[in-house]
Amino acid sequence: MRVGVVYDAGSGDWDPKDVAAVLDNVRTVQKALRSGGHETTLIPVTLGDVRWLQKVQRCDVIFNLCEGVNGIARYEDYAVAALDLTRVPFTGCTSWTVTIAHRKHIANTLFAAHGVPVPPFALAKRGVVPTALKFPVIVKPSGEDASVGIDSGAVCTTRKALKERLAKVAGLWEDTLVQEYVPGREVNVGFVGSEMLPISEINFENMPDGSWPIVTYAAKWDSGSPEDLGTEPVCPAPLGPELARKVASVARSAWQLIGQENGYGRVDIRITPDGQPYVLEVNPNPDISADAGLARMASVRGWDYDTLILKVVDEALGRAERRREAEALYLKIPV
Ligand SMILES: Nc1ncnc2c1ncn2[C@@H]1O[C@H](COP(=O)(O)OP(=O)(O)O)[C@@H](O)[C@H]1O
Ligand SMILES: [Mg+2]
Repeated sequence: MRVGVVYDAGSGDWDPKDVAAVLDNVRTVQKALRSGGHETTLIPVTLGDVRWLQKVQRCDVIFNLCEGVNGIARYEDYAVAALDLTRVPFTGCTSWTVTIAHRKHIANTLFAAHGVPVPPFALAKRGVVPTALKFPVIVKPSGEDASVGIDSGAVCTTRKALKERLAKVAGLWEDTLVQEYVPGREVNVGFVGSEMLPISEINFENMPDGSWPIVTYAAKWDSGSPEDLGTEPVCPAPLGPELARKVASVARSAWQLIGQENGYGRVDIRITPDGQPYVLEVNPNPDISADAGLARMASVRGWDYDTLILKVVDEALGRAERRREAEALYLKIPV
């Protein structure tokens, strides 16, 4: 098949390191696709120029690696929506999923309405400090990911500290979420379509003294930093059968609700010391590079990297086929 690999071409002010990381990922995915006998074509996406869609149109299926356009995260949603309009099958989550998941206050409202356990939260609109939450709380952007805005100061134990934190982050991003802090363990549950991958845990034992056990921006992006070394992934997570079942059930409900079991995703969960899992978020199209969490979980499942990539393509093709059948049956539109 002819597979188009769609990715963010970035902008002129990108750090060369970031450009290299994107291209590295593109090339590894391309290699994996070739191992499956596919022909590949690279399709960079830039803002204000939709000619990339013409290239998409000439492919049998698209591998979507777009995490934004020109490095602007919120344009990821529009790139997926544009792919949807081309009607060429594409990998990863649908535009509905990315749009909801990237607005955590909306995703959390859906979770709460459907009985998926989520820590109590409030939006801090225009600097108004929410009053009904129990301390400690964590302050985080509603529409960002990758731990943007999260450092040890994000956790506040008093109303005064919360007020100060809200003042500090005011204007940095659109909506700010204040959420009750869940003490305890943190796990990630990956999905490809309806298939759940082995649960992974973040071991916080080596976090620097005095830091909260949370995955901060430095932990994710500052390789070799004390916070990176203090957040060690362990897969499979040593949970014991009963807790693993509980976590799996909560993760699947969240993935069904927000991800609709389409594409691939990762559900982030905290577990209280008395064994109650709470969903922090669903990550649609999480990092699928060879050294990221999803590939690690897949390898524990027995899928090497090439297999993971080819499964993701199969999922996209299967979904497109189901959509064609459904539309032929119910909508009677030409397909
Ligand atoms: N309610 C919470 N209780 C405890 N820790 C949290 C909570 N919300 C976020 N965190 C910590 O912050 C990290 C990032 O938050 P998350 O909601 O997953 O956003 P992101 O999209 O940036 O990954 C989590 O991995 C976790 O360590
Ligand atoms: Mg997260």
